[in-house]
Amino acid sequence: MAKVWSKRFDNTLNPFIEKFNASISFDRKLILEDLDCSIAHAKMLGKTKVLSNSEALRIVKGLEAIKVDYLEGNFSPSPPSEDIHYCIEEKLISLIGETGKKLHTGRSRNDQVGTDIRLWLRKEIDNLEILIIDLQKSLFKIAKSNIYTLIPGYTHMQRAQPLSLAHHLLAYVEMFQRDRERFKEVRSRVNTSPLGAAALAGTKIKIDRNYTAAELGFEKIYKNSIDAVSDRDFCIEFVSASALVMSHLSKISEEIILWVTDEFSFAKLTDKCATGSSLMPQKKNPDVPELVRGKTGRVYGHLQALLTMVKGVPLAYNKDFQEDKEPIFDTAETISSCLKAMTILINEGLEFNIKNLSDSVDDDFSNATDLADYLVAKQVPFRTAYQVVGEIVKYCLEKKILFKNLKIDEFKKFHPEFDDDVYLDLQPLNVVKSRTSEGGTGFIQVEKEINYWQKKFKL
Ligand code: ARG
Repeated sequence: MAKVWSKRFDNTLNPFIEKFNASISFDRKLILEDLDCSIAHAKMLGKTKVLSNSEALRIVKGLEAIKVDYLEGNFSPSPPSEDIHYCIEEKLISLIGETGKKLHTGRSRNDQVGTDIRLWLRKEIDNLEILIIDLQKSLFKIAKSNIYTLIPGYTHMQRAQPLSLAHHLLAYVEMFQRDRERFKEVRSRVNTSPLGAAALAGTKIKIDRNYTAAELGFEKIYKNSIDAVSDRDFCIEFVSASALVMSHLSKISEEIILWVTDEFSFAKLTDKCATGSSLMPQKKNPDVPELVRGKTGRVYGHLQALLTMVKGVPLAYNKDFQEDKEPIFDTAETISSCLKAMTILINEGLEFNIKNLSDSVDDDFSNATDLADYLVAKQVPFRTAYQVVGEIVKYCLEKKILFKNLKIDEFKKFHPEFDDDVYLDLQPLNVVKSRTSEGGTGFIQVEKEINYWQKKFKL
């Protein structure tokens, strides 16, 4: 098949190189964006009188017919077209003839591809926003009904202090909120039109960049034509924001994997999201969170690939940039499938074992800080109280008992300020309740958090 490019070439490409060079196998994903971009461009050429009204109309109608064909499954971009841009142009020419050859007036594939990927990313970001909200809501729903459910809190993976389960889950809601804010910022930069930058220098053809930008819903246009076609920073920002979403998903996955072990038994998997072992009949495996955790690496890898792709690339467009597509496509697909899977897991795949949770927090030394704070309330300096409680812990460990098992006389041997009311302060519910500082796990604060998110989510 004859190539679209100029008569400068005598020989055809080596078939292997032809394939090596081509991007149609993956950039066909951009077909709708490419069509929209071309429709806006053709309309603009009509408006500025570069094309006659009837020529512009013919082109727009041709492109719309291609869109319908594609959506109805009657057209599928494929080799030997090199990429989606040539593919559509070739199809248009075959459909409407000579007039189709006027579509590429005043533009280059460089500004065209830049426009397509920005349109595609903008749409993806909007879809991701909805998926993140779904996940936040599912976490919120469980939080709302578990304000008074306690869960051991950890630092260094060692029991630290008990927490309200709601507070723990809302920590993730906060993380995902920041992820949404990041995407919003990325979106505003993605939503800038490079169209009309042409190859790199602009064009002498009378174009109207603001018109095409408005047609395509872009907020603004790139101010410098070279810059417009020379960077993929917005792709990197997108993958970077996605990498952070994956880090949060991976974190919660790891917790769920731990929670459903026999050792923790804080929760169990329902049959909806667990798989069995081919050999061991007793097994119920947490494949969903493991896959999410495992897929995190792909997105981190894409980030690295893109950062390396742009490194040291001189102005302006270079073919290196063709390598931007697969990382962003796979990133979007990976994070949306992980968000969906995690939402399903939270909604119907996980059941907290409330009894085990409350037994756990009653069976450790995670109220040690509270024992020290008890003395602090009686004017004992914190460092002294801390040392006293350290001795008590040692004593209890030797006797294999907990604080609550100590007689009051034993307490008094460690410090005379101990009194009968100490036992109240040691109860896990009171321990959690007492953390009333702003943003803390005290129930008053957690209720405030719940009210805040309730207003946002209107659930
Ligand atoms: N397939 C190319 C890409 O994705 C389109 C732009 C090609 N531009 C060029 N000057 N060769 O980057």
